[in-house]
Amino acid sequence: MRKKFIAGNWKMYKTTAEAVAFAKAFKRLYADAGADAEAGVCAPFTQLAALKDAFAGSGVKLGAQNVHFEENGAYTGEISAPMLKEIGVDYAIVGHSERREYFAETDETVNKKLHKLYEYNILPILCVGEKLDQRDAGKAETVVKAQVEKDLSGLLPAQIDLLVIAYEPVWAIGTGRTATPEQAQEMCAFIRRTVASLYSAAAADKLRVQYGGSVKPDNAAEILGKADVDGALVGGASLVPEDFIRIVNFSANA
Ligand code: PGA
Repeated sequence: MRKKFIAGNWKMYKTTAEAVAFAKAFKRLYADAGADAEAGVCAPFTQLAALKDAFAGSGVKLGAQNVHFEENGAYTGEISAPMLKEIGVDYAIVGHSERREYFAETDETVNKKLHKLYEYNILPILCVGEKLDQRDAGKAETVVKAQVEKDLSGLLPAQIDLLVIAYEPVWAIGTGRTATPEQAQEMCAFIRRTVASLYSAAAADKLRVQYGGSVKPDNAAEILGKADVDGALVGGASLVPEDFIRIVNFSANA
């Protein structure tokens, strides 16, 4: 049975003081809630060390939002996997559509980043998803399949067991326009079938596939109730502890 995993993606929000205040409040809520799901927060690099301390003992997982694919080198402004490992992060988001769109992330660099993260036992949250014109042209599955195939290239079956893939239709991110629960289920199931054909049914069965794109406290239960939706990657609604706990505890809102 796959445990649902709700990860917050804070993007470029919060100072470290604000992040620590969130952690203190959220830790209490999470402890009281008898949570339905594993929870995690993917924060800006500057906040990670303070959050590691602030979340200590809570079970809340900590993630970065990006990583460089090289070990070290002359890459001004970049952060490497060993640097993240030293802080003790559990996860790193790779291939978010904002990085693909604004920072020239390609399937090739995404693939290299996945390999580097596994070398350091940091688990990737790989983001894939189609744009609106691609969905309208009936190409959502083709686009997502190509991303999954290229991004996972060369990974071993044991690595796939630990992977999280976030299906994030680009048209639903930050727009308030959520995919319907049926669309989310369809695409998450499609991603699982794609992984089954690349690896095995057993690996696909362990893989956790999140949905992301305008997940809010009020729509979480319906989306997370779907069989192949194993969690959510939550942007805006992960910034406020009282909102985020309602998503983590989605069944209470069902
Ligand atoms: P959103 O962002 O929940 O604000 O739509 C989701 C994401 O970008 O991961």
